[in-house]
Amino acid sequence: MSEYTFLRGSKDWWRQAVVYQIYPRSFADHNGDGIGDLKGIIGKVDYLASLSIDAVWLSPFYPSDLADGGYDVADYRDVDPRIGTLDEFDQLVEKLHSKGIRVFVDIVPNHSSDRHVWFQEALRSPRGSKERARYIFRDGRGEAFELPPSDLSSHFGPEGWTRVPDGQWYMHLFTKEQPDFDWSNREVHDEFLKTLKFWSDRGVDGFRIDVAHALVKQLEPLPTRSSYSLEVMKDDGTDQLFDRDEVHEIYREWRALFNQYDPPRVAVAEAWVHPHRRPAYATTDGLGQAFNFDLLTSAWESAAFQKVIDDNLAFAEQTGSSTTWVMSNHDVIRHATRLVIPAGKEGVTFDAENHWYVNHRLDGDLDLAKGLARAKAATLLMLALPGSSYLYQGEELGLPDVTDIPSEQMQDPQWFRGEGKFKSRDGCRVPLPWSASGPSFGFGPGGSHLPQPQWYSRYAVEVQDGIQGSTLELYRAALSMRRTLIQGETLSWLPSPVGTLWFEREGGWSSITNFTDQEIELPTGELLIASEDISAGKLPANSTVWLKLS
Ligand code: NOJ
Ligand code: CA
Repeated sequence: MSEYTFLRGSKDWWRQAVVYQIYPRSFADHNGDGIGDLKGIIGKVDYLASLSIDAVWLSPFYPSDLADGGYDVADYRDVDPRIGTLDEFDQLVEKLHSKGIRVFVDIVPNHSSDRHVWFQEALRSPRGSKERARYIFRDGRGEAFELPPSDLSSHFGPEGWTRVPDGQWYMHLFTKEQPDFDWSNREVHDEFLKTLKFWSDRGVDGFRIDVAHALVKQLEPLPTRSSYSLEVMKDDGTDQLFDRDEVHEIYREWRALFNQYDPPRVAVAEAWVHPHRRPAYATTDGLGQAFNFDLLTSAWESAAFQKVIDDNLAFAEQTGSSTTWVMSNHDVIRHATRLVIPAGKEGVTFDAENHWYVNHRLDGDLDLAKGLARAKAATLLMLALPGSSYLYQGEELGLPDVTDIPSEQMQDPQWFRGEGKFKSRDGCRVPLPWSASGPSFGFGPGGSHLPQPQWYSRYAVEVQDGIQGSTLELYRAALSMRRTLIQGETLSWLPSPVGTLWFEREGGWSSITNFTDQEIELPTGELLIASEDISAGKLPANSTVWLKLS
């Protein structure tokens, strides 16, 4: 039994797991209404198993009015009828488990949808009522309370306060359809414990926690903020809105619940905090693991990648956790496109004003062949690293981002907030192509809720399945080989030419990446896998190779 196989069967299965993110509305549509659904996913479980992944993470599938792609949850313990039923959810979990694939669901505890029964009750109840106390309702300023209670902007704003018919205002860090909960209210704690128990009892193995650093807020005096940048976020646990030390009390309570299960339920925090504050979210008495998005925001440069890797392995060591790696997700430009966006026109930059990753509009032609080469090289490098890797649906096909969705078909609030200045996140949420032709390229028997470009056919699963040299087969081979190779959780750097990175893992295998546009000499060793065709002992430009060392 390989060390990895042993790990997979243990309570530490998550430490070096590969988790595949499914954005349910865009994965597979069973009934042809253009919206992906649980039955669609059930029909693709064999495909998921063929990838040798350890778990899937389902982005929100809960009832939602879709003000923010489902991150506006109207009922935390149900399935959106457009996506399926709880029975189908149980079937999906059972089928995935039968293939050895574990399941993460997304928990969105900072805010609900304005359609949530609690918020509806709050609207019907008077100021000062216990129903309003679950959210952050305040009187406005000005003679007639006509001004917001404080000068606060929101991520998808512009305003961070919205007025209700009786004149009070409620606070929201995201869209106005996403009112923030008041976590100083015990009822809110109990409600989320109930939700976590509900899904854990249904066999869910893990949770991805949305904006995990925002729950606890200091509301006296009310926060004023026009920017959410890390520059203005305090890094000592006393910021008014984010990353307050008290937030960890919540997660300690969650951990106590998770540990009542066998194996204990796991969790990964999405927390945009100062890097040195990240380990606090990954402690064994807390959520256990925290996302790092540092590779996703790195330039395609060996030195930048090396620093990110060293820093994050060190952070993980501080807490006894393992780190996470991400190249693509539902919020950013797919890495096959992002990695060739010219400098100065970065696809994803940290927007200092809004503390948010922004996808810039892409103008002009991009060298997508190079983008694909870099994406495959980056993925192969990532899969060789200690820690767990998160893949985003469609990256195994080498899918580029869709950069030309007509604005009238956009759905993302980020697009509307930016008034067209920022590229919408819809470009990475376009439904997957399963076949080269037919309605919605095999996504389903009907249409597609976001328009698919004609060139999608070239990337279809059907076109790549079983074809040597395809991106899909590269992912499959790397993922299954990884299971036989992984031992230990450390790496050591090996000397390599400028513009390359070479590291060795326990067990005598190594990964070397060429970040440059020129081929270089390939070190000697037994070739295990390569992201490009290898000839005459050369490591091609923008490629990664795994080598067994003698
Ligand atoms: C992070 C999610 O990934 C993103 O899609 C969402 O818009 C925000 N949190 C708000 O819930
Ligand atoms: Ca459907």
